[in-house]
Amino acid sequence: MVVIRGATTIPCDTKEEIQKAVSELLEQIESRNALKRDEVVSLVFSSTCDIHSYYPAKAARETGFISCSLFSAQEPEIDGALPLCIRCMLFVEKNLAPSHVYLRGAKVLRKDLAGKFNVAIDGPAGSGKSTVAKRIAKDYNILYLDTGAMYRACALKVLEMGIDPTDEAAIVALMRDVKLDVVYENGIQKTMLDGKDVSEEIRQNPVSMASSSVSKHMSVRMHLVEKQREIAGKMSCVLDGRDIGTFVLPDADFKFYLTASPDVRAKRRFDELKAKGTEVDFGRLKEEIVHRDEQDMNRDFAPLKRAEDAVLIDTSDMTIDEVVAAIERSMQEKI
Ligand code: DC
Repeated sequence: MVVIRGATTIPCDTKEEIQKAVSELLEQIESRNALKRDEVVSLVFSSTCDIHSYYPAKAARETGFISCSLFSAQEPEIDGALPLCIRCMLFVEKNLAPSHVYLRGAKVLRKDLAGKFNVAIDGPAGSGKSTVAKRIAKDYNILYLDTGAMYRACALKVLEMGIDPTDEAAIVALMRDVKLDVVYENGIQKTMLDGKDVSEEIRQNPVSMASSSVSKHMSVRMHLVEKQREIAGKMSCVLDGRDIGTFVLPDADFKFYLTASPDVRAKRRFDELKAKGTEVDFGRLKEEIVHRDEQDMNRDFAPLKRAEDAVLIDTSDMTIDEVVAAIERSMQEKI
């Protein structure tokens, strides 16, 4: 027997919100654990004492959990508890490493960290950083800052203006005149260049190489690092990049370094580009990734490097769910 935990929150205490939240939570638990309904023996809910409108267990029954035993209880009033929170435990007849699911900010870290904490995820291209960072940010209900997007936006402008990416003085002059911002729409980062949303354009392959070249320059980096530190200083966030744990936020509360073999990383990028309809040669893409690694690892200032206190995760043979689970486990252990 295995126990899977889950928790979620509701925006207000109504029957509809409870039904919606319970259904979403159970769906996520089922899909992240590849569960079949008849493997669930028992399902126990607790809800915080500010929830009165409906039994979560009844909502679960309505979503189709009909053959297992169900139970709901109310938690006592506890000072500082997360409001409007529904927790559940599934007792499952299956041999699996459980993937616990926490949605809508329902995962509360240690009180002193719950106020504000930063997670640094570094690693080479294609190591899975951004996908994993987005998931961690969603699970903890905090911001995700893609620092690579900033270097990419800068590189896009450099390419558009026909500037040589090795010409540091020209790039710095250009950046003084350019307005580079990251904004958030429904929790998704949009990268803005002179008021235009360039989030898609910066993903093109030529921009990848150019971003690695422009990011070599110390003055370019300092300009962007200042923005990154400003955002991370104000709120809890997950940042992914190359130098977050070593240089941008050496005191980050949690640090991870993701890696994977060049073949696996190239395959991931290849699939990503293909899904967007961009045809690329696999061999060439792999060469570019290896070249970009070398450039990012060997630059003089703030190179790509694992911080001594970063947890190393080789994602070559891991699914995204497994990497997310490993990171969240490690964070919980540290708390
Ligand atoms: O993560 P990415 O592929 O979007 O990053 C593009 C380039 O930007 C990468 O090759 C190096 C540079 N970069 C960096 O130097 N420091 C960061 N924190 C993030 C990215």
